[in-house]
Formats: sequence, C-alpha cells, structure tokens
Amino acid sequence: MTVSDHFRLRDRHILLGVTGGIAAYKTAELARLLVRAGADVQVVMTEAAGIFIGGSTFQAITGRPVRRSLFDPAHEAAMGHIELARWAELILVAPASADFLARLHAGLADDLLSTLCLASEAPLAVAPAMNRNMWRHPATAANVEALRVRGVRVWGPAEGEQACGDQGPGRLLEPAELLVRVGEWLGQGSLIGRKAVVTAGPTREPLDPVRFLGNRSSGKMGYAVAEALVREGADVILVSGPVSLDVPSGVRRVSVETALAMREAVLDAVTGVDLFVACAAVADYRPRQIVDQKIKKTEETLRLELVRNPDILREVAALPDRPFCVGFAAETDALAVHAEAKRKAKGIDMIAANLVGGGEGFETDDNALLVLWEGGWLELPRQQKTRLAEQLVSVIAESMDAQATIEDPR
Ligand code: C5P
Repeated sequence: MTVSDHFRLRDRHILLGVTGGIAAYKTAELARLLVRAGADVQVVMTEAAGIFIGGSTFQAITGRPVRRSLFDPAHEAAMGHIELARWAELILVAPASADFLARLHAGLADDLLSTLCLASEAPLAVAPAMNRNMWRHPATAANVEALRVRGVRVWGPAEGEQACGDQGPGRLLEPAELLVRVGEWLGQGSLIGRKAVVTAGPTREPLDPVRFLGNRSSGKMGYAVAEALVREGADVILVSGPVSLDVPSGVRRVSVETALAMREAVLDAVTGVDLFVACAAVADYRPRQIVDQKIKKTEETLRLELVRNPDILREVAALPDRPFCVGFAAETDALAVHAEAKRKAKGIDMIAANLVGGGEGFETDDNALLVLWEGGWLELPRQQKTRLAEQLVSVIAESMDAQATIEDPR
C-alpha cells in the first residue's frame, strides 16, 4: 500500500459483513489492513459467522463493537440499523457464503447484515468463499449472475486448495488483494460520486412472433464504456439491447429488445443522472404492425410499412435538467462534418464519430474515434475498444469538469 492509498481510505466508512465460513479468519486480517489504511470499519457478523470467529477479535482490531442483531436495544439506541445503512460508503461481505448469496439474491431481510444490504444505497461487493462444488452449483451460479446484473461486485473466488482438501475455485481472495480492490473502488477515479446511464447494443424490432429487424451492433463499445466509467468510480446503469456479452463487474444492466423499450428504460433511469452515453445502435424505424401469427410465404413480394422510432438521445438532451450527453455517429464519409452537424442537431455536448463500412466499426474488437465537443476535438487512434473506451471516458470526465467550472466559476 502506497502513501496515496493510505489517504484514499482515510475516514472512509466501510461496513464489513462476515458470514459463516472457514475463511472468516482471513477477514480479521482484512479488517486490520483496512484500519491501517485509515478506514473506519464497522463489522457486522451473521450468526453463522460467530461459529468461525469471535466478535472480540474484530472489536479489538476496529475499535468498534461488532454488530450482530437486528433488534439489539443497546446498539439500536446508539446507531440504529437504518442509520448504519446510511453511514456505510461501501459494504463488503467477506466471506460471502453460498447461503448468504442466495439470501441476498432473494432480498431476504431476516438478519442485520441482509437488512443492511437491502436498506443501504452504498455500493455492495461480495467476496465469495465456499466449497468448489457449491460455487459451481447452478443455483449459486444463477444467484451470482443475478447479483452481478444488479450491480453487485463479485470479487473472486480464487482457485486453489480448499479447507476441505478439494482443489478448485472457492477460496476467499487474499486480504491484501481485497484491500487493493476496496482502495481502487473507493479512492480512485475522476467520476466518483457521478451517476451515468449508458445504452449499448442493437435493438430488435419485431415483425411477427419469430422475426425481427435488427442490426450488426455487437455492443462491445457500449459495454467497454460502461466498464471504463465504473473504473473511474461512476455508478452505472447499462440499458442494453440483445448481445452476447457478460455484464461488467459493478454495472447494473437493464435488458431490453425494442427501441421503445430502450427509450422507456432510459427515461426511467436518467433522472438525477450526471452523464448519458448513447452507444446503442437504435433502429431508426420499426414495423408499423407486429403480426400475431408467423407471416406465411404466400406472396411473391411483401411490403413492410415502417414508422420512425423516437430518438432517445435527442429526447434526453432536451430534458430540463439534462445530464452531460454523449452520442456516437457512424458515418461512411466526411466524418468531422457529419458528426458535428449531428452533435448540433441533437443538442448534445459531445459526439464520438467513427467510420463504418469496409469492415470498420461494427462487430470488431477495435476501432478509432474522432471526438468532437463545443470548441474542441480529439482523434483517438485505432486500438482495442476497451482501451478506446478508457480514453473516451477520460475525455468525457475532463469535459464535464470544464463545463462545471464554467457554470460555477467559484
Ligand atoms: O442519428 P443517428 O442514429 O446517426 O445518431 C446516433 C446516435 O444517436 C447514437 O449515439 C445513438 O445511440 C443515438 N440514437 C438514439 N436513439 C435513436 C437513434 C440514435 O439514442 N432512435
């Protein structure tokens, strides 16, 4: 841990949840490292955790009495569970048992820790630890996937020798590794405390129960942008069309199919948000009618009548308290001219333009971007979309800061 790491965690409120598992002894070391890094740590243990480790160990390390019970009058009088939920800047459950992950997924609130996880708006991370078969069980896998979709960060587990003698995935990440992740999450980033909504992927516009109009967008750029935003500390909701990509850790995904559904999800999510990045390849038109039955091939020709879809980005940009809006423009020629015209027409702050056609842009792993904003531009050379997204996000963060300074020159 460096000096700057130390300052990053200084006085940060970390709620450390401990559930029942042999790895709970490692959490004592984690608590020690967090405290040494300057954090204010409150340990909350489940009943089962008490079988593996004593509360007095944590109390000695953190200087705070361990909380265990939802209805403990002594503690509730000092800091009630709702106050504790508000106090936390980050909740980390380590180790998180299979049982706890299942209860978290189900939204149970039958003990203090699960209640705090429900009641708190703080970001939540879990560090699972369990027998490898339990980890691999489809029930656990489904719970973990659902938690990821909700934006819960899942750190680990590591592979290796297990307490039961088995070899495989299920070991708690080492305390030093968990400390680094906490530091990265809480301490870094140009977008800490900012909220963002990102759209990604294609939309599907149904014709009948089995067919749709779609496009070749892979969603890779939008997912990479969402991931880069999270890494800079933003709280990200990703409204995604159908793609075959995993949800990036820490991102909340809302899955949609049609442009209309995407619009609704975005408008639901965008209130109070600081940044909107529209990466989705939204279909410009949808079939006027969705036929109830599969269309039969009886006619030689078939006419489809299409109607315009709403322009989601333009709509968000026109909202009264709108977020900083970033759009994408895929052009086949005169990139700068068309992109700037589009930026103005949509009334957005920034546009990232790329050339398409001839195998560029869609369905590829790399891309190049020309980024334009009021009074500035930057060319980001061809590279992996993940790297490109990181650079784009740093341009966005700088631009947002510059705009905030102009609006509030103090
Ligand atoms: O107008 P055009 O489709 O070229 O604009 C592309 C930009 O606008 C992208 O950022 C895309 O995500 C967004 N867009 C949208 N809703 C639409 C069409 C495009 O948000 N219906």
